[in-house]
Amino acid sequence: MIKVALIGCGKISSGHVKAFETIEDAAIVAACDLAEQSLNAVCEKTGAKPYTDYKKMIDELKDEIDLAIITLPHGLHGEATCYCAERGVDVFLEKPMGLDSEDCRNMIECCKKCGVMLWVGHLQRYMPINVFAKELIDSGEYGELVGFTETRNGEYFTESRPRWFTTKAMSGGGISINLGAHTLDKLKYFTGANIKTIFGGIHMHEGSDCEDAVQAFIEMDNGVVGTMNLIGYTSAHAYDTILYLTNGEIRIRSEIGNSVEYCKKGEPFQLKECDHVPGMTYQMQDVIRVIRDGSRKSVVTGEYGLDIIHAVKRIYKEEQ
Ligand SMILES: NC(=O)c1ccc[n+]([C@@H]2O[C@H](COP(=O)([O-])OP(=O)(O)OC[C@H]3O[C@@H](n4cnc5c(N)ncnc54)[C@H](O)[C@@H]3O)[C@@H](O)[C@H]2O)c1
Repeated sequence: MIKVALIGCGKISSGHVKAFETIEDAAIVAACDLAEQSLNAVCEKTGAKPYTDYKKMIDELKDEIDLAIITLPHGLHGEATCYCAERGVDVFLEKPMGLDSEDCRNMIECCKKCGVMLWVGHLQRYMPINVFAKELIDSGEYGELVGFTETRNGEYFTESRPRWFTTKAMSGGGISINLGAHTLDKLKYFTGANIKTIFGGIHMHEGSDCEDAVQAFIEMDNGVVGTMNLIGYTSAHAYDTILYLTNGEIRIRSEIGNSVEYCKKGEPFQLKECDHVPGMTYQMQDVIRVIRDGSRKSVVTGEYGLDIIHAVKRIYKEEQ
């Protein structure tokens, strides 16, 4: 039995709980949160032992558990990751990895030194729509991937969003670090490349030290170029990712369900409706696979997470 401890029982934790419902012989055996209601909700669903202090939980269970899943506010990722690593516990850390590049490098170094796995939860490669698009790209039938553009508009500064998301000291930034991390993950997944150049502009939200909009230009180190246009308002709700190839086009239409439109040059678009299994489920199945097979080799590494944080920090002009 693979035993997992969950650190943080907020909104995203329900996706992890659901994922474990699909995995045989693996379970969340312990969970921690400061908020009693959130903690109880997870423990009732999973039968996990409740804790309000994650350090106590890890100290008590470090020899029993196979993995800690960290779903805390970004500003707490570094401390919690290193706490687990130093006690020999493999880590799955939710995206975005950390507050800045230094924070990420510390986590990478600490996990390497302690010999534990660090897997960052960039999940775009596990989403059926993206997997289908990647298969089209890799088939070669549509030519070479040249350009990428993502437009995502949606209300960002909402009442229901926990305050820490819009407090830079705890989030590292606004829409770019949170949702832009998904855009950049997609771009890295589709191109198999790292981010070479990135620059852009952000619009600061009134009364906050975080941004509510970003427009950025990206060049990958294999030459693919892209744009990221994220607007934190819903005057025109949109979530479109378009991939331009030398012999065709692929449109991932996230706002109208799990569909992909694609065509070869000069031919009509075809429509593919992909399955609705959440990417988080496939992601956790893969995490448990590498623990079970003993390789403990993360598919989405700390270096991958760092590349994304460094890119966002370059948009902010905080890093070079
Ligand atoms: N993969 C995705 O698509 C996705 C989606 C949403 C969120 N996320 C990421 O997941 C992480 C969590 O986001 P969320 O939306 O669940 O946030 P959230 O605020 O709902 O959850 C965070 C939880 O951590 C708890 N917490 C804070 N400090 C703590 C401490 N010291 N000890 C124990 N618990 C503590 C809070 O009480 C809260 O319940 C973030 O990194 C976020 O960016 C990823």
